Formats: sequence, C-alpha cells, structure tokens
Amino acid sequence: MKTTSDLGDLRGKRVLVRSDLNVPLDGSTITDDGRIRASAPTIKGLADAGARVIVCAHLGRPKGAPEAKYSLAPVAKRLGEVLGSDVVFAEDTVGDDARAKAAALEDGQVLLLENLRFNAGETTKTDDERAEFAGELASLADVFVSDGFGVVHRKQASVYDVARLLPHATGDLVSTEVDVLRRLTRDPERPYAVVLGGAKVSDKLGVIGNLLGTADRLIVGGGMVFTFLAAQGHEVGKSLLEADQIDTVKGYLDRAEKEGVEIVLPVDVVAADAFSADAAHEVVAADAIPADRMGLDIGPASSALFAEKLADCRTVFWNGPMGAFEMEPYAAGTKALAQALVEITAQGALTVVGGGDSAAAVRQLGFADSDFGHISTGGGASLEYLEGKELPGLTVLEEGDA
Ligand code: 3PG
Ligand code: MG
Repeated sequence: MKTTSDLGDLRGKRVLVRSDLNVPLDGSTITDDGRIRASAPTIKGLADAGARVIVCAHLGRPKGAPEAKYSLAPVAKRLGEVLGSDVVFAEDTVGDDARAKAAALEDGQVLLLENLRFNAGETTKTDDERAEFAGELASLADVFVSDGFGVVHRKQASVYDVARLLPHATGDLVSTEVDVLRRLTRDPERPYAVVLGGAKVSDKLGVIGNLLGTADRLIVGGGMVFTFLAAQGHEVGKSLLEADQIDTVKGYLDRAEKEGVEIVLPVDVVAADAFSADAAHEVVAADAIPADRMGLDIGPASSALFAEKLADCRTVFWNGPMGAFEMEPYAAGTKALAQALVEITAQGALTVVGGGDSAAAVRQLGFADSDFGHISTGGGASLEYLEGKELPGLTVLEEGDA
C-alpha cells in the first residue's frame, strides 16, 4: 500500500481525505472527540505539505438525505480547534457550495464537506449509483487519501469506489491501526486474551468463532454474557438474552474445551429490578439470578477474577463494556477491567481497546489514551479484521492505482 509520502510533491494539489469523524453528539455538543483527534495528524501533515485538503466523512446513519441533527458542522468547528487553524465547512457534499469552496481553497487550507450519507449514492448496494457519487467526489480532487479506519469494512462510495478513480494512498491512521491488528493476528505474544462485552452476542459470533483458533483465553462480560450463562443451563431472569443463539454458544463452549481455549465467565452479577440508575439492585451469584431481576454489570468477584486472568497476559484485545456503564451503579465492572489493562500495559503487555464505543467508555470513566497500548477508532472494522474477513476499504488500497 502506498503512503502519503509516495504521492510526491503535494503543494497546490487538491487532496480528498476520507476520515472517520463519526463522534457521539449530545445535541450539538461532541461528547468524545477521540476520532477527531486521531484523524487530525494526517490532515495536518497534508496541509503542512501545502496541499488543499478536502475532508469527507459521515455522521450517524441518515437515510440518504439531509437531516439537521446529523450535520458535520459541529465537527468542522472542533477539527479547526484541534488543528489550530480554521476549517472551511461546505453545506453540501458534492453540490454547488462544496464545488465552490473546493475551488477557492488555498495551499494548506482545509475544507470539510457535509455528511457523505446525506447522499443516497454513498451507501447504496447498487454499484453504478455508488460509482456515480464517487465520480462526483473524485471530481473535486487530484488524489485520494484513505484514512477512515472505522469504515474500511464498508463497501461505500467514499471508502471503496473513489479509490478506484483517483491516485490514492493510505493515511497514517489506517496504517497504524492495521499494524496493531497485524500484531494481534500474526504470532501474538502469549498468553493472548480477548475480552468481549457489549449487548449482543449475535454481533460477535464470527469473531468468537475465529478467536477460538488464536486466543488462549476468552473473557466475556456485558449483556452478551447472559446467553453464555443460559447456554450453561442457568436462569438469567429478565437479563438480555438471545434465545436463538443459545445453541450456537453451546457449540462454541464445546469447541473451546476441545481446542484448549479457556472461557472465563462472571461468577457474580449486579442484578437490578429495572434498567435504570435508581432501580433496586444487589450482587448475586451468576448462577442464581432471581427471575424478576436483570443483570446490568459484572459483580466484584468477577472483576477480581477477570483481573487475575489478565495479570499474566502479554497481549489483550478488548471490545465492549462489561455492563451498563453509562449508569453509575453499573460502571464498576467496566472500570475494573480498564484498570486491569492499565496495569498490564505498564508491565509491557500490548493492550488494544477496540472501537469507538469502548474507547468513549474508557475516556468517560477517566482513563487517558496513553494508559493503553492502542485505542482503536474502529469497533466494527477491528472485529471484522480479527474475524479474518476481507475489508473492502483495505483491499482496494492493495490493488493499487487504476
Ligand atoms: C462506527 O461508528 O463504527 C463507524 O464510524 C462506522 O459507522 P457505521 O457502522 O454507521 O458504518
Ligand atoms: Mg459502530
């Protein structure tokens, strides 16, 4: 894959950069700017080289038409603050405003286009329609830099098709992310543990299946763990349960045993009588959840067990919170897990926090990015990589220029 330094002298050139600036918003307030900060160095590097930088990105999942609440305007402002220079914002993506502002750019200036997904051509499954929109994007620029790691698993116009129309290079963020994932998949230092959490086991079946062949330990928490507990024959009360996945999970438990992969499940949980911060809640044994209660976090004995299972690990990948951490009474498990990773990071282990949501969680709980080996900007993308899937946004870069 070519890097930006292979693009030659960029002074005066129009460079289209695909970044992943999909940040969580509360109204127009950005609650975690991690993806903006992670994207800034590539953009700044290009601007410093004298390029006229045209950044494109998505926010949320609008349905192919403008919707004010998904505007990238607040992101343009924050990006300018992070870069230390104003970012011009276009009110559309490939329309009159975008074309005029792209044409007026001076060397070293940065323009952010409005949300790519306000255009149906960005995400459509119809190749011709995607190619047509990609053509309009490509006409704004001379070269393309792919730096939106969080979207490389998406076959979308700004990720895949545009790279087939312009000379292109891989941005520094994508290169860094891929390097880390390679270290996890090619001969990781052992013991290698993977910690999975989050709500749905069905989102992670593929990756679990693949990890049974590479990881030494699989530690499970979060909402998805109740399907594991049910597969072991336990009552899970009103906890999240994907009943249709119980058999699949049983199959994984058997396979893990055969392949010598240790599966670590919670031994206690915080069980509440409603999904609410002020619900009555207590710690119960994981095999004795009362029928009228739901598990919303792992309990203290589980936190201690997980920490013990991580203590000797040399490589850890973590995706997904251990509980409903947004509510204070259910945040302790996620916090304890993060703390266990911080400690082994200090001892030289490679720890990778995978994903926008998990990354936002650790920052919200007061941890610093530098407490971990690597905080990935792409949850779905890193899981698909670990699953061994082909990522269209990377394949197209490997293909080379058209
Ligand atoms: C993410 O938030 O995971 C990435 O920005 C990709 O977004 P998407 O899942 O809506 O494609
Ligand atoms: Mg996501």
